[in-house]
Amino acid sequence: MRIFLLCFLLSIGLDLALFSATPDDQLLYLGFTGTNLTVDDTATVTSNGLLEVTNGTLNSKGHAFYPTPLHFRDSHNGTVQSFFVTFVFAIRSTYQIMSLHGFAFIIAPSTNFSDAMSNQYLGFMNSQKRGNLSNHIFAIELDTGLNVEFQDIDANHVGIDINDLHSIESHTAGYYDDRNSSFQNMSLISGDAMHVWVEYHGEAKRISVTMAPLHVAKPKRPLISTHLDLSTVLQKSSYIGFSSSTGSVESIHYVLGWSFGMNKPAPEIDIAKLPKLPPQGQKRQSILLETVLPIATATFIVVMGAIIISLVRRKRRYAELKEDWEVEFGPHRFSYKDLYHATEGFKSKNLLGAGGFGKVYRGVLPSSKLEVAVKKVSHESRQGMKEFIAEVVSIGRIRHRNLVQLLGYCRRKGELLLVYDYMSNGSLDKYLYCDEGMRTVTWAQRFRIIKGIATGLLYLHEKWEKIVIHRDIKASNVLLDSEMNGRLGDFGLARLYDHGTDPQTTHVVGTMGYLAPELVNTGKATPLTDVFAFGAFLLEVTCGQRPVNNNTRDNQEVLVDWVLEHWHKGSLTDTVDPKLQGHYNVDEACLALKLGLLCSHPFTNVRPNMQQVVKYLDGDLPLPELSHTHMSFSLLTLMQDEGFDPYVLSYDSSNKISIGTVSGISGGR
Ligand SMILES: Nc1ncnc2c1ncn2[C@@H]1O[C@H](COP(=O)(O)OP(=O)(O)OP(=O)(O)O)[C@@H](O)[C@H]1O
Ligand SMILES: *[C@@H]1O[C@H](CO)[C@@H](O)[C@H](O)[C@H]1NC(C)=O
Ligand SMILES: *[C@@H]1O[C@H](CO)[C@@H](O)[C@H](O)[C@H]1NC(C)=O
Ligand SMILES: *[C@@H]1O[C@H](CO)[C@@H](O)[C@H](O)[C@H]1NC(C)=O
Ligand SMILES: *[C@@H]1O[C@H](CO)[C@@H](O)[C@H](O)[C@H]1NC(C)=O
Ligand SMILES: *[C@@H]1O[C@H](CO)[C@@H](O)[C@H](O)[C@H]1NC(C)=O
Ligand SMILES: *[C@@H]1O[C@H](CO)[C@@H](O)[C@H](O)[C@H]1NC(C)=O
Ligand SMILES: *[C@@H]1O[C@H](CO)[C@@H](O)[C@H](O)[C@H]1NC(C)=O
Repeated sequence: MRIFLLCFLLSIGLDLALFSATPDDQLLYLGFTGTNLTVDDTATVTSNGLLEVTNGTLNSKGHAFYPTPLHFRDSHNGTVQSFFVTFVFAIRSTYQIMSLHGFAFIIAPSTNFSDAMSNQYLGFMNSQKRGNLSNHIFAIELDTGLNVEFQDIDANHVGIDINDLHSIESHTAGYYDDRNSSFQNMSLISGDAMHVWVEYHGEAKRISVTMAPLHVAKPKRPLISTHLDLSTVLQKSSYIGFSSSTGSVESIHYVLGWSFGMNKPAPEIDIAKLPKLPPQGQKRQSILLETVLPIATATFIVVMGAIIISLVRRKRRYAELKEDWEVEFGPHRFSYKDLYHATEGFKSKNLLGAGGFGKVYRGVLPSSKLEVAVKKVSHESRQGMKEFIAEVVSIGRIRHRNLVQLLGYCRRKGELLLVYDYMSNGSLDKYLYCDEGMRTVTWAQRFRIIKGIATGLLYLHEKWEKIVIHRDIKASNVLLDSEMNGRLGDFGLARLYDHGTDPQTTHVVGTMGYLAPELVNTGKATPLTDVFAFGAFLLEVTCGQRPVNNNTRDNQEVLVDWVLEHWHKGSLTDTVDPKLQGHYNVDEACLALKLGLLCSHPFTNVRPNMQQVVKYLDGDLPLPELSHTHMSFSLLTLMQDEGFDPYVLSYDSSNKISIGTVSGISGGR
């Protein structure tokens, strides 16, 4: 900054000195700050005093002239006087190996070059005016392009031009070394400042052009020295200045200092006082700033944006709902990310099935490699959620060989994910209702499953620390582990639909055919409503038919009524699943059928509890004799009396019905 100020003051001071001298005598510019040059097009004076004749704009031209014309001819006999010009210039380019097109010192009758052309015309000539004697233009070109049309010698030459770009004399840029007279090449486009001396001797009619690097003193031997009569060229009064042009390469043509002398030597340019060129490569740096940086910035922004978006997406994808009260259930909470990865993003190939509550996916937990079944239950945020999850989690502590172990849960917005042990053999209904000829479960397996489910349900009802009502016992909720053990799944889930509802209203969720009549009436689930459903399940497994059937065999509609009918007729074994092809234990089958009827009795006081059920099944307690009066009921008639038609209701897509006030959550199905 201090250096700049110094330069500025120096140049101001020198300018003042300069203007006090007659312009026809001598001129000296050490930098151009505050000077009164006539500039046009791209020419400007930079803030640190450099004259930028062209500023790097492509296909541009620029000019800078001393503002007043000089008298080149003697006022008495009209001969062209001697003149001496010195200047220091530099050419910078975006490419180190190339710069176009060139730069020239010119003497011209006018400063109006609006009709001149850029590119190879160097900003002071055009194709029409070429060679016209009325141009009265004298120029020293520092040409960085090779133009065959002007018979250029190379792309790095100095030339003397008279009214044309075809130089009368030219030489490769360089100088003759004073010590050994060897020619030293100079590269005009090196970017370094160079010194040029032009000397015209009026009497001798000789012109010489010399150039040298800045640190080299004026060589004794000029680069070009030739005979030239300017008397036909220069007008009486002409302007002196610079012209330059660019083409397809961003080039900058700088003038650092300039001096002129008419009839006397031009003042010497003190190179120490010249303004400093921008550091070499600054153009590159500014290219860096102007193109690379914005591109890099844009790329950076785009990349960052993409990262942020993917993070946000990821965050959203794996977003969970977590509340303070859940902290106590921490160990049972799975991260959504783990479940997402476990199920490969809930891919449909991992879909095990879809039930009334939602879809179930198979998955492998990434950390433990444990196979799990993930049930996605959609729910709306509701008040009862806390109680429900508390229950789910407490239920998660239940461990029994006939219950599907709940491993944990995960909660997201509008979604609850329940993680269960994976049951490799799927649900029982698939075996019961498989097509003819396909593998079904044998009677022995069925009876074992029945006993197992009874034990599991007994555990829920009586053996655990609090009474847990399953609410949705049915063949599709009985899952088979790798040893074909029956395990009851989904327990407690129906509670989800109870919590948060108005206690004044009745709201029942269950599956038609498994719903006890009093449950439909009161909406109150009790262990005995589970027993009713278990009865229906017993009949279902033994008969191989759904509790409410549309694909009627013997036109029956409600399984209980149909089995009861056969019991009354004494043909109970006719109801046993024909898929067993007679391979079954008659006593066990009759026990299961009778117990099924007993459990599915419409009157709760007739139904046994699960403790008794297990004893009956194990043969520890004989089944009480069923009296025909006791057992004369028709579930269908009973249900229809209550205003429900199980046949019609069973048409519900999920076979699940909701009676009473339908809360928001049940509305979705
Ligand atoms: N733990 C599990 N292991 C293996 N498969 C399972 C598991 N849980 C569920 N499934 C499979 O997913 C299917 C759907 O289960 P889900 O319990 O949601 O439906 P459902 O029992 O038919 O209906 P509901 O929702 O009324 O109980 C089941 O039929 C079963 O094949
Ligand atoms: C060069 O000069 C022209 C004309 O004054 C101007 O429009 C352009 O912006 C300048 N370019 C640079 C790089 O300074
Ligand atoms: C600059 O030059 C113009 C003529 O080109 C002249 O009119 C003007 O007064 C000069 N200004 C200064 C400050 O020398
Ligand atoms: C013209 O006049 C100058 C002096 O003004 C003189 O030096 C020069 O020799 C003259 N030239 C001719 C050709 O007479
Ligand atoms: C420059 O010359 C052109 C014709 O070559 C002319 O149209 C224009 O008006 C001139 N400009 C000035 C400032 O004299
Ligand atoms: C040279 O230029 C002048 C003025 O611009 C014009 O009148 C003349 O016709 C030109 N001569 C040639 C040969 O183009
Ligand atoms: C002349 O001198 C310069 C340096 O002073 C050196 O680089 C060059 O090689 C010399 N040339 C000859 C022919 O001696
Ligand atoms: C100088 O330039 C000429 C022509 O471009 C080339 O043949 C020569 O090798 C160059 N010499 C040096 C020393 O760069």
